[in-house]
Amino acid sequence: MQKICITGGNKLRGSVEISGAKNAALAILPAAALSDGVCRIENVPAISDINLMCKLLQDLNVKVKMINKNTIELDPRNIQCSIASYDLMRNIRASCYLLGTLLGRFNESNVYLPGGCDFGTRPIDQHIKGLSALGAKCTIDGGLIRAKSEKLKGTNIYLDVVSVGATVNIMLAAVKAEGMTIIENAAKEPHIVDLANFLNCMGADIFGAGTDVIKIKGVKKLRGVTYSIIPDQIEAGTYLTAALATGGEITIKNVTPRHLESITAKLKEIGAKIYEYSDSIRLISGEKLKKCNVKTMPHPGFPTDMQPQIAALLTQAEGTSIVNEAVWDNRFRYVEELRRMGANISVDGRLAVIEGVSELTGAAVKATDLRAGAALIIAGLSAKGETTIENISHIERGYENIIEKLKNLGADIKKIKQIDYESEVAGL
Ligand code: EPZ
Repeated sequence: MQKICITGGNKLRGSVEISGAKNAALAILPAAALSDGVCRIENVPAISDINLMCKLLQDLNVKVKMINKNTIELDPRNIQCSIASYDLMRNIRASCYLLGTLLGRFNESNVYLPGGCDFGTRPIDQHIKGLSALGAKCTIDGGLIRAKSEKLKGTNIYLDVVSVGATVNIMLAAVKAEGMTIIENAAKEPHIVDLANFLNCMGADIFGAGTDVIKIKGVKKLRGVTYSIIPDQIEAGTYLTAALATGGEITIKNVTPRHLESITAKLKEIGAKIYEYSDSIRLISGEKLKKCNVKTMPHPGFPTDMQPQIAALLTQAEGTSIVNEAVWDNRFRYVEELRRMGANISVDGRLAVIEGVSELTGAAVKATDLRAGAALIIAGLSAKGETTIENISHIERGYENIIEKLKNLGADIKKIKQIDYESEVAGL
């Protein structure tokens, strides 16, 4: 086991290349399994969630070839409608996309209820609502979701809740269904648009992605294509936030600035100077960090996946900031860890009230999920003294090469071996 060790206080300077978007890749890889040909997916982030998704697809007899660390070739021509392994599926939320993929290809699918980051209940009722509306009979027993249909028929689906996952699953099932499917109250995230663009390159007939009404006209065939994943706006926002927390100035490269407008708008409110170019953004820190209020919303609102990171920044802003987590029930588990570093935060349900302190102090902390881990890194980079972070596998799920990227920006950060206390004690 390893942990991250950070000595805080260095201002981040220089430039960093942003990787492909995790949540776009996790939807596009299963979508490639709908194809009748070979797909080559480029700019895929080299992270453990992608490795897991590739293993799940291999479980279904999809041939997966790593051309290089960021390019994957998928040949689904001999895919089977079997059940991928429970141990794999329970680790990532995106495993539920196999529901839409297998239904879209075989009119049948059996997948285990998904896992993923734990921040309260993560229902799939909207996924089931959409797939049932398309004509699938869905049942859940023994942790397995079984879906079967004679033929999938296009229909109108109004999502009760804006759900990225449900929008993805319905798109995957509807793309080869008979007739027109209209998804209303659809998710509008950049990764939804990227999925629609990928499917359309394969020969699908989807329009309206990026708005709250997506129309999908079923087609008979989907061909193999080469496609490059969009940059990760959450990774980009994380590095900008880290730079501001340390009082530094950095340029992030290979980004789409309009994908992170809500993030850069907030960072400006907190005191950053932001300069946007066609595929890069430069951030220069201001004199001090100013308090501000944040409410997470579906895109184009402030993304919930940046909530822990911006909260870590606000722990050192002058005054009182309020963070309202309006998407997830319980996405403040990281607060306990920030308190160990001297943060002054009180949480009541979906609200966190942050009283800015002049300085955090390094401590031993634990990552409770992916973005919580990123928040602890941000806190450690700006804290006085040494911070160690355990459970770093959470962080490696979603951030390619984060240690090297931060080191290149001047951070004093490294991975160290974690003493396995159980075996130490056992050895006494
Ligand atoms: C995706 O999760 C992302 N994961 C999450 O990112 C992200 O936090 C989330 O979208 C919101 O943007 C992937 O893309 C792999 P939802 P997902 O369905 O699809 C409720 C990260 O850090 N809901 O949009 O599971 C749900 O409870 C991860 O990269 C229902 O009520 O999220 C939540 O309140 C963490 N019924 C809201 O909708 C449903 O059937 C949004 O959930 C589905 C969702």
